[in-house]
Amino acid sequence: MHVLFAASECVPFSKTGGLADIVGALPRAVAELGHRVTVYLPLYRQTRLENPRTVIASITVPFDDRYRFCSVLDGGRQNGVQYYFIDYPPFYDREALYGTPLGDYDDNPERFALYCRAVLEASKILGVPNVFHCHDWQTALIPVLLRTLYDEDPALGGIPTVFTIHNFGYQGIFSPDTLPLLMLPWDLFTITKLEFFGKVNFLKGALTYSDFITTVSRKYAREIQTTEYGFGLEGVLRSRNPHVIGILNGVDYTEWNPATDSHIAAQYSPESLEGKRECRRDLLRCFSLDPESSLPIIGIVSRFAAQKGFDLISQAADRLAHMDVTVVVIGSGDKDYEDLFRRLVRHYPERFAVRVGYDNRMAHKIEAGADMFLMPSRYEPCGLNQIYSLKYGTVPIVRATGGLDDTIEPFDIRTGKGTGFKFHEYTAEAMLSSVQAALQVYAKPEEWRKVMLNGMARNFSWAVAAHEYLKIYEKVRASRRAAVEQEHNKDQDG
Ligand code: ADP
Ligand code: GLC
Repeated sequence: MHVLFAASECVPFSKTGGLADIVGALPRAVAELGHRVTVYLPLYRQTRLENPRTVIASITVPFDDRYRFCSVLDGGRQNGVQYYFIDYPPFYDREALYGTPLGDYDDNPERFALYCRAVLEASKILGVPNVFHCHDWQTALIPVLLRTLYDEDPALGGIPTVFTIHNFGYQGIFSPDTLPLLMLPWDLFTITKLEFFGKVNFLKGALTYSDFITTVSRKYAREIQTTEYGFGLEGVLRSRNPHVIGILNGVDYTEWNPATDSHIAAQYSPESLEGKRECRRDLLRCFSLDPESSLPIIGIVSRFAAQKGFDLISQAADRLAHMDVTVVVIGSGDKDYEDLFRRLVRHYPERFAVRVGYDNRMAHKIEAGADMFLMPSRYEPCGLNQIYSLKYGTVPIVRATGGLDDTIEPFDIRTGKGTGFKFHEYTAEAMLSSVQAALQVYAKPEEWRKVMLNGMARNFSWAVAAHEYLKIYEKVRASRRAAVEQEHNKDQDG
């Protein structure tokens, strides 16, 4: 089978968050099962390619006022996966992928509509897949176009799509003028299609037109069908049941494993944990703290976004600062949160150490050097850092939502079972009592070792998830074939 992955970011070429990790790993896992896999990405300024080759010099993408012409570069094969890049410098050769700390780029609908059209056109020349697997709103127009403007295309017309929601909080909502601007028909602007409270909602289009919808944990699949987490699209999603499921993300252990990680000061494993002590000292040094400090270290690596629960940290900051802990943070994103953390460092230089920015090496150092890892998310589709933390013996403290709830089992001191600490209510008090509970166990080294080792023994490799996706690919191919046959029979009867 040939699966085409469409996504707006992918390691090692471009990354702002976990989506990139997943699009870096899942295609490889599918290829390892013996399938042909192609990944299409935008060519951003930050993308580094060795010897790229132009394979399509020009694809015409119509906009209402003009044609735009992009090209396609062959980025080569890695681990059995073929990478192609859509090159259109006016859209992608920019400082950031989606916007700056002050807001998103205004022309994001054009940027990602061009990408979607280019992927469809390029696939006709470079290889029509058996399934399009699209990720998040940036790729949402692929299923929309396939089932509308491309419906009669003899090459693409019958190809099914699977759509994966990595984050329901980002939907691609734009003004209605976007439709004519992108040369999309006005009849898409109805409540059963893309219309959403007077605006155009790309994600809604994907939910309507994809053959199957997945998201990245079982719990999140249930949550986004409720008003609390559905961002207004819960009804649309419910109407697609039973074509909605949650498949938990895996982890790329070639990247995130303390036994082989080249970013950290010393390697370690469950059999020999000594290296972790060196990583701890190294982390404290990197943040200009006393390397011999014995205070427990709580790590945070995150996009600074409302989703991640930083208002709880803001409310709890004074109380956290009076507990015997050091909080070490790397993150970037919304300006308000960047300012919050800068303020905390000024007030409590001994308790909070923060780097504002994006630094993959430092993310690895925090995973390895911290004792605990805090994710108080308001919502979390899957979350990867808590799963990385398990492998690094860095005990997660999480809010029981989405993938955080599915991946962390509360530690029970009586049975010695469990991998972390969880709280349910979205309040500073609940978060602080979880931190307190963790500190109490931390004070008993034998018990703490148990939690660490329980987590390190957990395995979230991709093999299981890749099999689940394959079952879905097969299912959508079969149902699309059946639909095409039915259509054909109807035509003949008529
Ligand atoms: P999300 O996708 O919502 O941001 P995840 O937990 O799924 O959350 O994934 C976040 C990914 O991005 C992890 O690989 C994490 O290490 C990385 N990351 C987030 N912020 C930073 C940062 N400031 N510097 C380096 N890596 C970061
Ligand atoms: C999103 C989610 C995160 C998830 C990641 C990869 O950005 O916020 O929870 O782990 O996508 O699926």
